[in-house]
Formats: sequence, C-alpha cells, structure tokens
Amino acid sequence: MSDLRDESGRPLRDLRISLTDRCNFRCPYCMPAEVFGPDHAFLQDGQVMSLAELNRIVRQFVRLGVVKVRLTGGEPLLRSDVADLIRILKCDLQVNEVALTTNGWLLAGRASALREAGLDRINVSLDSLDAGTFARMSGGGKARRIERVLEGIAVAAGLGFPIKINMVVQRGVNDGEVMAMAAWARERHLTLRFIEFMDVGNHNGWSRDLVVPAREIVAQLSAQWPLEPCGPAYRGEVAARYRYQDGGGEIGLISSVTEPFCRDCHRARLAADGKLYTCLFSSSGWDILGALRAGATEDELLAYLGRVWRGRLDRYSDERAELLGRHETRRKVEMSYIGG
Ligand code: GTP
Ligand code: 5AD
Ligand code: SF4
Ligand code: SF4
Repeated sequence: MSDLRDESGRPLRDLRISLTDRCNFRCPYCMPAEVFGPDHAFLQDGQVMSLAELNRIVRQFVRLGVVKVRLTGGEPLLRSDVADLIRILKCDLQVNEVALTTNGWLLAGRASALREAGLDRINVSLDSLDAGTFARMSGGGKARRIERVLEGIAVAAGLGFPIKINMVVQRGVNDGEVMAMAAWARERHLTLRFIEFMDVGNHNGWSRDLVVPAREIVAQLSAQWPLEPCGPAYRGEVAARYRYQDGGGEIGLISSVTEPFCRDCHRARLAADGKLYTCLFSSSGWDILGALRAGATEDELLAYLGRVWRGRLDRYSDERAELLGRHETRRKVEMSYIGG
C-alpha cells in the first residue's frame, strides 16, 4: 500500500469520478433550471475522458492507494459506457469497491447490466415521496414521475444491490417529510441518509436558515424509533451512522455544515474533463487529462498526482464552521461538474 499523505497526514483512498456534467434533472439545490438552461456551456464530447483514458488515469490512483471508486455526475447513467467502465475498474484495475450515485431515472433499465459488470453498491438520490415535492425538488413538471425512480430502486434491490437513499433536507421545503421517508425506508430495509443542504457551487441560493442540522433529525426520529450510534463502516466515512434499537435497520447523517468531517477526508475528485480536485469546494483543478493527452507517461502521471496530493491543504467545511455564520463568497466549481 502506498504511504502517500497530504499536508495533514491524510492518505488517498477514495476516488469520485464525475462521468458527465450533464443531468436529466434540474434539482434547484444543484442545477437550477434558470442557470443550467439551453444556453449553458456543457462539456463537449471531445473534452470528456474516454474509457481508455480513464483506464490509464485511474490505474495511477490505484497505485497511490485508492481502494474505492464512486461514479457520479451530473447523472452518470446518461453515459452509455458505464457498464464497460465498471468492468475495467473491477477486472483490469482490481478496485475493491465500485459504487454509483444516481438519480434513479434510468436505473430500472440499466440495473441488470450494472450488476453483471460487477458494480458493488448504489446510492439513489430521493428527496421526497410526495409527487409534487419530488417534481419540484428534481426540477421537473408533471412528466417527472416519482414512480419511475421508485421502480428503479425496486429493480436494483431485487437484483441484490445494497442501496442507500440520499435525501437532501431543506428547511420549509421537505423537512416535513423526514418521518415518512424513514418509515418508507425501514419497510424496505433501505439505508436512508439525511444530507445537510450545502453551499456547493455558486447558484443554489444557500443560506444557513435552510439547513436542518443532523442532530435535529436524530432527535425527531428517536422520539418514535429510538436510535443508537454505530461506529463508522470505514475510517473517513462521510455519514455518521445510527441504528434503530428495534432492529429496523440503519440511517446515516451527512452533516457537512454543522459537524464537518474534513479531518478524515481521503477523497479525490476527478471531473469528466479529467481535472483533479482535492475538495468538493475547490475553485480550480489540476489538468490530468491534459497531461495525458500531451504525452505524459504513466509514471509521469503518477508523479504528478503524488505531488498534488502531497501539497493538499483543503478543509473547507472545517473553515466554514470556523467562520461562524459568515459565508464564503469565493467562486467554486459546480456540484454537477465535480460530482458531489
Ligand atoms: P458511501 O460510500 O455510500 O458512504 O457514499 P458517499 O456518502 O461517500 O457518497 P454519495 O455520492 O452518496 O454522497 C452523499 C453526500 O455526501 C453528497 O451530498 C455528497 O456531496 C456528500 N459528500 C461526499 N463526500 C463528501 C466530502 O468529501 N465532503 C463533503 N462536504 N461532502 C461530501
Ligand atoms: N447539498 C447537499 N447535497 C447535495 N447534493 C446535490 N447538491 C447538494 C447540495 N447543495 C446531493 C445529491 C446527491 C448527492 C451526490 O449530492 O442529492 O444525492
Ligand atoms: Fe442531477 Fe443529482 Fe444535481 Fe439533481 S443533484 S441536478 S440529479 S446531478
Ligand atoms: Fe473533504 Fe473538502 Fe469535504 Fe472537507 S469540505 S470533507 S476537505 S471534500
């Protein structure tokens, strides 16, 4: 195992790859439709990493200690070659764990190919069970049918995928649905994770008033179904996990705003255009694909990645907490581009 460490002694273990900056949803907290409209400049095909390029780049990350790869977007299933990539990651590169984060819209039709390719786990974003709130929070009209996402979840669960549901909770928008979502997930033995609304990107209208602190959710749930904390499944896990004392399964809380977890952050992020970001809240990235296309050898890429990681100082969420209410206004990359 590589002994690479960043400036704070953090190893590199997880790689999140955004496969495309496009999405078929327009969640207002991520890609508000008025900003990401028909004129938005998305990446062009030639700018996006091909499978062969991904193979060569991810191979270097594995040499540096990456054991888990998460495929995200935008919406990763908009790319037709996801199953081929999973095969490369699992068979050629021997990545221990390959996971996918999706909005579920295309999942029913793709789940079986993903299973055959060797995908280990799936996280599905679902903010509400109410048809109207779901349509609003995914930025769709009547055509955005929640049943389609629920079917995707059922098909994937039926194939044996471990599934987590991600619910971004916003005050006054869907915080009234915490109990209903929890009851639904308990019945289906799905792990539900409550995510604090974050100030990612530059357009999502973030304000502290819209954040529902994780501890408030734990208190609310505990009143009906007593909870107890469980230890992390692995060091640096983003979600704090709790189990229902009655055996009803587990929940997770992703409290980047009220209880940041930068100290153990082992994640690197590769955007679809092959730029490397060492934090979700970065302003700029390192052009790994550019170096590859300019003729860098695999060893040169390895040395480049090592240099970037060794110099890493990021601890944005810790700093946000230290600002105590004042809000960072520096321009950041967009969530849909960097991959959540
Ligand atoms: P597991 O491997 O299942 O634990 O998934 P994950 O939580 O790492 O990934 P997922 O894509 O499901 O992300 C859930 C939420 O956690 C999203 O809102 C992400 O933006 C957020 N998240 C993931 N990694 C980080 C991180 O390093 N920093 C911050 N601030 N948020 C993160
Ligand atoms: N704050 C918190 N989570 C967010 N996500 C997207 N935008 C935000 C935000 N501003 C979540 C999505 C998805 C995951 C990858 O990130 O809902 O589940
Ligand atoms: Fe698309 Fe996910 Fe962003 Fe929603 S949160 S717009 S589904 S990338
Ligand atoms: Fe890691 Fe940056 Fe998130 Fe902190 S804010 S946990 S450094 S990605």
